[in-house]
Amino acid sequence: MPSRRDFLRSAALVSAASLAAPLPLRAGPVPPGSARPLPHPGNASPREAARDEDYWREIAGQYRVTDEITNLEGGFFGAMATPVLEAYKGNLERVNRKTSWFARTEFPARAREARERTAAALGVDPDEIVFARNATEALRTLILQYNGVGPGDVVMYADLDYPAMQEAMRGLAARHGATVATLDIPEPATREGILGAYRATLDAHPRTRLLLLTHANNKTGLLHPVREIHELAQARGVEVVVDAAHSFGQVPLALPELGAPYVGVNLHKWVGAPVGVAAMYIRRDALGGIDRVPGSTGPRDRTDSRIQVGTMDFATLMTVPAALDFQDTIGIERKAARLRYLRDSWVLPARETEGVDILTPDDPELVGAITGFRLRGDGSRAGNAAVVRTLEEEFGIFTVARSGLARGDCVRVTPALHNLPADMERLVDALREMAGRP
Ligand SMILES: Cc1ncc(COP(=O)(O)O)c(C=O)c1O
Repeated sequence: MPSRRDFLRSAALVSAASLAAPLPLRAGPVPPGSARPLPHPGNASPREAARDEDYWREIAGQYRVTDEITNLEGGFFGAMATPVLEAYKGNLERVNRKTSWFARTEFPARAREARERTAAALGVDPDEIVFARNATEALRTLILQYNGVGPGDVVMYADLDYPAMQEAMRGLAARHGATVATLDIPEPATREGILGAYRATLDAHPRTRLLLLTHANNKTGLLHPVREIHELAQARGVEVVVDAAHSFGQVPLALPELGAPYVGVNLHKWVGAPVGVAAMYIRRDALGGIDRVPGSTGPRDRTDSRIQVGTMDFATLMTVPAALDFQDTIGIERKAARLRYLRDSWVLPARETEGVDILTPDDPELVGAITGFRLRGDGSRAGNAAVVRTLEEEFGIFTVARSGLARGDCVRVTPALHNLPADMERLVDALREMAGRP
């Protein structure tokens, strides 16, 4: 079988001149304005299509990522596919050429388009979302401006939630004389185990007012059953703010189906927009629960009076539709199935390897692309940092260690669409070798 590099090297669109690029790229560099034509995905079901290596090699070829390392750390932010990158460059050039004339005349319509497209992709109304620069900004705004917590009340979060949002929950509690309750997500995680943990902790703290709930967490990638947890919370008079930073573009996501009134999403992770764009969602009937920005005299009935980011990156915002177009060309169901296929292709053999502890279940409802593991049960910070270092230095595989889990640190593995099964095989070989060492 030809290697990925062989395939890309021989691709008709990669000119001999372009191979002399200064940086080694997985896909040969594409001259400006000549992005590869997107292949057609065909009519196969998402599960069948996930194994169509000809199709996915073409998709992988749409990403100009380096060949210096096998990058399995797609969780930080997503590479832009070439058509998106080219649109971004064009937008950047336009903004820089026309400056304030552009920003004050053409840009508002482009920003509206980005908002409408994003809202449509999330299944909500455009005026229920507002852009932020990142999910941290969106979610901390929701949490810190939440006005339903008073003295003696309780706010709640879990060990797997994101540290910046946990901190905001503590800040909210401190400001209003409330207390904080926490829970640990069971390991190994099962649907019933997760629901049981939330049910028990909510019951133990009847004065809980706000629950932070992460959809796809940043450590093990576990997909939490948000809808069911929201129902448990709602039945107890608890409102829920959902951190969906990792789910938009990784798995199919319709915000109304989550049930929760407050959600933060990212567009620069799995949607593949340029870095610097996220969105804050407030369900129309829940606007009153989030205060306007301190000091704001803006309209009470508008989402955008709840956040103030000042000047944002014009070109980034304007590129959102191109990123959504690229995703639509593949189809989110197909994309999610491929990511899951790449994930399974390392997890299933690694699970059979003595000394490798996989922390994320295989239940199709509970996992997407991301999975965490430990080697020989070692949850120490130093131990996991060493695993990451060995994978990088000895095997040329880039991953990241994550902290904050109740039972100790882990290593997170996150394939992206520019990865191919050979990358996952490389990881399995490395883990087998590392697990077998004394
Ligand atoms: C679960 C989760 N929430 C929030 C964030 C923050 O996203 P951002 O870096 O865009 O602020 C991350 C980032 O990795 C995350 O994994």
